Amino acid sequence: MSALADRPPNPVVGRSAAHESAALHVTGAAMYTDDLAAHTAGVLTAWPVQSTNAHALVSIDVSGAYEVPGVVRVLTADDVPGVNDAGIKEDEPLFPSEAMFHGHALAWVLGETPEAARLGAARVIVDYEPLPSLITVQDAIDADSFQGIPRTVRRGDATSALASAAHVFEGVSEFGGQEHFYLETQASFAVRDSEGQFFVQCSTQHPSEAQEIVAHVLDIPSNRVTVQSLRMGGGFGGKEMQSHGFAAIAALGAKLTGRPVRVRLNRTQDITMTGKRHPFHISWKAGFDESGMIQALDAVLTADGGWCLDLSEPVLGRALCHIDNAYWIPNVHAHGRITKTNKQSNTAFRGFGGPQGVFLIEDVLGRAAPALGIDPIELREKNFYRPGQSTPYGQPIKDVDRLTTIWNQLRDEADVDTRRAGIAAFNAGSPHRKRALMMTPIKFGISFNFTAFNQAGALVHVYKDGSVLVNHGGTEMGQGLHTKMLQVAATALGLELHQVRLAPTRTDKVPNTSATAASSGSDLNGGAVKNACEQIRERMAVVAGGMLGVDAHDVVFEGGHATGPGAATRLTFADVAEASYLQRVQLFAAGYYRTEGLHWDPEVMQGSPFKYFSYGCAATEVEVDEFTGAYTVRRVDIVHDVGDSLSPMIDIGQVEGAFVQGVGWLTLEELRWDAGDGPDRGRLLTPSASTYKLPSFSEMPAEFHVRLMRDAREDGAVYGSKAVGEPPLMLAFSAREALREAVAQFGPAGHVVELGSPATPEAVFWAVRAAQHASDAIAPADRTFAAAP
Ligand code: MTE
Ligand code: MOS
Repeated sequence: MSALADRPPNPVVGRSAAHESAALHVTGAAMYTDDLAAHTAGVLTAWPVQSTNAHALVSIDVSGAYEVPGVVRVLTADDVPGVNDAGIKEDEPLFPSEAMFHGHALAWVLGETPEAARLGAARVIVDYEPLPSLITVQDAIDADSFQGIPRTVRRGDATSALASAAHVFEGVSEFGGQEHFYLETQASFAVRDSEGQFFVQCSTQHPSEAQEIVAHVLDIPSNRVTVQSLRMGGGFGGKEMQSHGFAAIAALGAKLTGRPVRVRLNRTQDITMTGKRHPFHISWKAGFDESGMIQALDAVLTADGGWCLDLSEPVLGRALCHIDNAYWIPNVHAHGRITKTNKQSNTAFRGFGGPQGVFLIEDVLGRAAPALGIDPIELREKNFYRPGQSTPYGQPIKDVDRLTTIWNQLRDEADVDTRRAGIAAFNAGSPHRKRALMMTPIKFGISFNFTAFNQAGALVHVYKDGSVLVNHGGTEMGQGLHTKMLQVAATALGLELHQVRLAPTRTDKVPNTSATAASSGSDLNGGAVKNACEQIRERMAVVAGGMLGVDAHDVVFEGGHATGPGAATRLTFADVAEASYLQRVQLFAAGYYRTEGLHWDPEVMQGSPFKYFSYGCAATEVEVDEFTGAYTVRRVDIVHDVGDSLSPMIDIGQVEGAFVQGVGWLTLEELRWDAGDGPDRGRLLTPSASTYKLPSFSEMPAEFHVRLMRDAREDGAVYGSKAVGEPPLMLAFSAREALREAVAQFGPAGHVVELGSPATPEAVFWAVRAAQHASDAIAPADRTFAAAP
């Protein structure tokens, strides 16, 4: 038993609490970064001058901007006192002399009003000296244009295992990226005070790194920069690193003008300037034995990094660590590399490369199943990890029985077998509409691969009146982290939820924080909040023990009161706080948490980078229309392992949201760039919701059942809970596989469906056509799969 996981009787964790800002969200009263700026007197607005060329040397004449009334200042490279870079890799100039993609911000105009800044930006003259540009991954592969360090995960001998395998398949899996489309676009707001210190409000998942970037751009120490992340209207990974440059622009503007400066991108600017989920091109060979057990996987994964590295290396690392998903693959050789193209710099997006790795194995299994003559659900199940096995990167698989437990539970509770029989009967009588139900699992590693990031801090104050204020290093982006942290603090101090309040995340409260990312926000910050609260509770227990006449160790804090065995009275928490103050007992504490037991060698991609694995299973039923390729998601059932939930309603919301976002990525959302040789080469052609199809109400599953695994305590994490933010996104593969199976119904048995990704109605339509023209039952021993159309 681990003390970290132990819950006291009647804890506040585990209750279904509403999101801490729910009322503010739905009434529109919740303030976001730019709301604060908009209400500040004298604030200047920064407007970008964006490149209209995918790749070119630029020279900039800003004089015209100053002729526009209300333009105060134009920011260019000459203004940067420190490092002219927005990232940590120093390959990301804040003011570039070379435009690296269509939309690249080259200079920023500060205006008294947004309109003045916009008109000023339009008057900046940019002279382009065009250079050759690479738009597609294939362009970059052909031109040998790569960046960063390639990595390889290796186990056993894939080459000889392939040579001796009974069935070998070979193919290309290519799939698109994804726009974050957070409702709140990138926003920053900086104020310089009379001492030359900067207070930067930033919609960011990573305030500490924003602070570092602002400090190095301004060439001042970190202790003169405070970054606050009040709350985000969504981040999804898109504000893990991409937000820093905007914070730096606002701070630089504030430094040069002495006035508050805001940056708030409009949707078109945001989507044309910021990076997205990495699209991948993967070529692979997979070998199976006679019974369908996978023997070997040999793959080259090429991630499209865009114009600079950003988080591409760790994203690729996580992709390589997830090509096994839930399956035992004895021989693996997976090589990963990152292209450099003239597009936005691709970045973190929910799953952080995990979904791209899982795509590979799910695509392999989905394509191999009919050729092997094995039902795809059975093929998956038979290849599941067994106890005692370990991942290709050497981490033992703990708790894999959880996967079989929830898989069977799902199969049962979703009535999978009966419904599949019903679907077969439906399909037999329905020539033009076909249905299918498919199940897929997910196993997702929790912790940052980079071990140092797995630490967190908190600062908790108890005031004399017994009210509590919690600070921690995590950021709130709608995922409910703050709600969970309030529940953790209330549990640790024995209070009711309403007695605890949370302050906005600031770098002057908790320093050197990690990004709120990798789904580890609650694990890490929860550990730190709990630690701080426990220090305070221990001290208060001594005081309460004295007042109650019981031993300090026997004092129980619960429901806002302190009691003890045999005590004649019970005290309110406020009484104890007041008495503690008078007795000069410290009522605040800094908490700290680090995840133990992790080790990782990135050079050889071996170790145990994850504290534990999250498991989930989904069963999705779809219906496909022959004539249009249009489909509906009829029903989704999910059983997900979040340990013993800290906050069940929030966790269920996370599972639902992640699943739908995954379905968006795999079936709807399609990014396109102009890859022609005309003047618009490299321009994003889908820069708004009118051309980029997001899941909306009409795409919600008609029936959607999400259950959390029961009795799922995780010993290694706070109050026995598990992370939830990202893993369920990958349950959306069940929808893609169901579409594949439904399409297959239009063709002969045993025929392999190669489904484009995203599987838009258009892609599904062409897959149906291909199925209808497939020759009869082929089931060849060896097959080469083309790149999906
Ligand atoms: N949920 C909402 N509503 N909005 C978001 O931006 N981001 C996701 C996930 N859930 C996100 C979200 C991503 S990418 C991550 S890594 C986690 O939340 C981060 O928060 P956590 O670590 O507290 O789960
Ligand atoms: Mo999430 S992609 O780790 O911010």
